[in-house]
Amino acid sequence: MCPVPAPQFDLLPTHTMLSLEQVERSLERAGQSHVLQFWPELCEEDRDKFLQELSHLDLEGLKDHCEGTARAAASPPASLDQHIEPVPPESIGSVRKSDQSALSQWENEGLLQISKNRVGVLLLAGGQGTRLGVQYPKGMYNVGLPSGKTLYQIQAERIRKIQKLSDTKHGSKCTVPWYIMTSEFTLAPTEKFFKENNYFGLEPSNIVMFEQRMIPAVTFDGKVILQGKGKIAMAPDGNGGLYQALVDNNVLEDMKKRGLEYLHVYCVDNIMVKMADPVFIGFCVSKGADCGAKVVEKAYPTEPVGVVCRVQGVSQVVEYSEIQPETAELRGPGGELVFSAGNICNHFFTRPFLQDVAEKFEGQLKQHVATKKVPYVDTCGNLVKPTKPNGIKMEKFVFDVFPFSRNFVVFEVVREDEFSPLKNADGAATDSPTTARSSLLAQHCRWATAARATLLDEHGNILPPTASVSAGDSPPAQCEISPLVSYFGEGLEELLKGKTLPTPFILDEKMAKELQAQ
Ligand code: UD1
Repeated sequence: MCPVPAPQFDLLPTHTMLSLEQVERSLERAGQSHVLQFWPELCEEDRDKFLQELSHLDLEGLKDHCEGTARAAASPPASLDQHIEPVPPESIGSVRKSDQSALSQWENEGLLQISKNRVGVLLLAGGQGTRLGVQYPKGMYNVGLPSGKTLYQIQAERIRKIQKLSDTKHGSKCTVPWYIMTSEFTLAPTEKFFKENNYFGLEPSNIVMFEQRMIPAVTFDGKVILQGKGKIAMAPDGNGGLYQALVDNNVLEDMKKRGLEYLHVYCVDNIMVKMADPVFIGFCVSKGADCGAKVVEKAYPTEPVGVVCRVQGVSQVVEYSEIQPETAELRGPGGELVFSAGNICNHFFTRPFLQDVAEKFEGQLKQHVATKKVPYVDTCGNLVKPTKPNGIKMEKFVFDVFPFSRNFVVFEVVREDEFSPLKNADGAATDSPTTARSSLLAQHCRWATAARATLLDEHGNILPPTASVSAGDSPPAQCEISPLVSYFGEGLEELLKGKTLPTPFILDEKMAKELQAQ
């Protein structure tokens, strides 16, 4: 994937309906007549659907889109590597390097803002989850925790808990609205899943789902790919499609109506994500930032995380797919990675900044080329699943707005506490369901032992306090603490101090009440 200037591609309002002749003429002008090659074979219903889909495309912009995309893939721009510099350590806020009083101050500020209904969260959930290999949205994935909770449920419960913590501290009755950006692939199943699960105890009107745009995938010689005889292969326009989607779906107006000032944007797959993290929000607000990014220290040079860095003094992210291996491997005098500020896709934005982006900068966002294996129908009408990349998808990246910020801040958090993404299927060495599950359980063991509980393994042996291992080691004890009981380890001492707990142990609200009564 590499940044290139490529034409913007638009979709037209759904009510526009063109005739077959109009579509034929436009496709011919765009050099894409093959799109209708199977028209004679389609039934009436499929013809209607296809015509509708084609009417919805910006056929006038199609030629530029296809040619621009093929050109962009053929001639990647010069790499940025020679111009990038690390963010100076002194301008990175850090959990590890800050004293308790600074951390508490930021947390208090964050909780105050939340209690005043000024903070919302926005989940980027329009991706197709190809690496994980499931046919449903990643948020519906169950990583095999003792409770069987899915990523969506964990996230919903963290929202409920942070609302409660803010209310308890400030005597409020606050709401943290949850915006969820989906795509054509993920909207319907996500809506259904939330409904079936009674919105995980959240008020449905405070969950706002909306769709990002889709754009046609194109072959290396600039031809639209047909994924069926009457269907174009479309792909979401990348998580940076967020800014267009905010406008398309009036999300900024919704935020304004609700009085929101700050938005915490995050990606779906990090099981440790601290939704509306008050420390991060408080840090950004205290620094007067309009835009901020959470980072963790990169674990190894080829780790698939973008790095937050500077180009001619301007902060931005260079994605893992776009950095040269030599640059990623550069080390400082102490052996530390020079480019170590690993992006964990947790961003802070003020509403005015988002408004500015929507009004002034969206059109300037870089387009990145992603080459993918796109299933297609060949000229004989057979469905082919390619074994090597055959198509190009253009994507925008959510972090490409950082250079437009007037006051951008970086906040480094502790990996073991905040980052364990689910990217790959089990069997992979990293970022799999097993590593995600282990990271969360290990954290909960750490919380329980810090609260002075004694954990027993399944044979009744005492687990040493160091049972708090990190992902990748042997599985930690099956100790799971519901987000409804503790958001980030708080409030556990009064429940667990001096208690001996056989594992598997699930500390949910019911168990918490029982322990409190003891
Ligand atoms: C992303 C970051 C990377 C970071 C890593 C940390 C981007 C572009 N890259 O990489 O810098 O180090 O996470 O885990 O942000 N999504 C959409 N619509 C799309 C495509 C993706 O909403 O069209 C969502 C996905 O559902 C997911 C998030 O964006 O929640 C991240 O997308 P993914 O493609 O998984 O990014 P990574 O390559 O893992």
